[in-house]
Amino acid sequence: MSEFSMKTLMFLALLGISLQGAAAVKHSLKYFYTASSGVPNFPEFVSVGLVDDVQMFHYDSNTRRAEPKQDWMSRVTADDPQYWERETEVSVRAQRTFKTNIETGKQRFNQTGGVHIVQLMYGCEWDDDTGEVNGYDQYGYDGEDFIAFDLKTGTYIAPVPQAVITKHKWDNDRAQIAQTKNYLTQECIDWLKKYVDYGRSSLLRTDLPSVSLLQKTPSSPVSCHATGFYPDSALMFWRKDGEEIHEDVDHGEILPNHDGSFQMSVDLNLSSVTPEDWRRYDCVFQLSGVKNNIVIKLDKAVIRTNWEKSSDMTVPITAAAVVLVLIFITAVGLMAYKKKKAKCPPSPPDDGSELSEKLNPET
Ligand SMILES: *[C@@H]1O[C@H](CO)[C@@H](O)[C@H](O)[C@H]1NC(C)=O
Ligand SMILES: *[C@@H]1O[C@H](CO)[C@@H](O)[C@H](O)[C@H]1NC(C)=O
Repeated sequence: MSEFSMKTLMFLALLGISLQGAAAVKHSLKYFYTASSGVPNFPEFVSVGLVDDVQMFHYDSNTRRAEPKQDWMSRVTADDPQYWERETEVSVRAQRTFKTNIETGKQRFNQTGGVHIVQLMYGCEWDDDTGEVNGYDQYGYDGEDFIAFDLKTGTYIAPVPQAVITKHKWDNDRAQIAQTKNYLTQECIDWLKKYVDYGRSSLLRTDLPSVSLLQKTPSSPVSCHATGFYPDSALMFWRKDGEEIHEDVDHGEILPNHDGSFQMSVDLNLSSVTPEDWRRYDCVFQLSGVKNNIVIKLDKAVIRTNWEKSSDMTVPITAAAVVLVLIFITAVGLMAYKKKKAKCPPSPPDDGSELSEKLNPET
């Protein structure tokens, strides 16, 4: 949802409809709790916090300490010396509550043993431009949605019959509902603004990528590859005679690099293009909030390959290819990790008490 809006904004920006030169206008603060039972070598409780999808908070049941994951998060103690102690206490309480939540989940599903996971994802979004805010608070159990708060109606949605008891219990606790609403639309937003301010120089930066043309074999599509950009709101496409083309074009996903930057590539199948027409094509990279595009003309001379051994470029080219392969492997690894994480998102049950627990975290 947030990603969609982000892309829409970016699209509008690229059309010149909006865009005041600012980078990301939509900010988010998200917390993920994962409680598990029966998973060897994995902490039974982990809590992570992200600002604009950058992890800045970590707690787990092995370390039993809430800790910053970004240098700029250390600034929070200048204004609030007790911050990390308080977060640690809140997390320890949440750990206890979530242990109970697992038991509740097992009862609801008539399970006795085995591996079980309760997840919670909650947080808020704030549009810097319009002031619009949104919040979410959703649980999962064993990788399936269990219960979610609907901020508009102020009620819980139970997609599975096992969560109906929880829904009734929580819907009837009007005081808790009011507190949840207040947290999601006020307190959470206040914290988000504070965090964005602390991390401004890092979160609001724009880094342009290096863009190159790559080709595996003489008959392969030409890949326009950009790596090292930030943030991930970017567009890349091929043009013919200055017009964006869609035919014979294959868009890859935006993938994270391990240094926090991103990469992407867009392939162009040239099998039906005559060599003299190649010069009519170019590849364009656009980063949201950055006026100047990066444009590379399709030219055999600038394509990096690893089959032509025509000159003393062989060694550097091979080295570059190795680096690219490594980046690719890293990206694939990260993607698999991301997918895995995304597959078993928030899914915990109830117990009433965890509501207050989860609402305290960053307050
Ligand atoms: C669990 O067991 C109870 C009692 O035997 C039964 O009524 C209920 O339908 C079962 N629930 C599930 C999810 O299997
Ligand atoms: C490129 O296009 C040709 C002809 O349109 C097709 O036969 C070929 O499979 C395509 N190659 C790739 C890698 O998609």
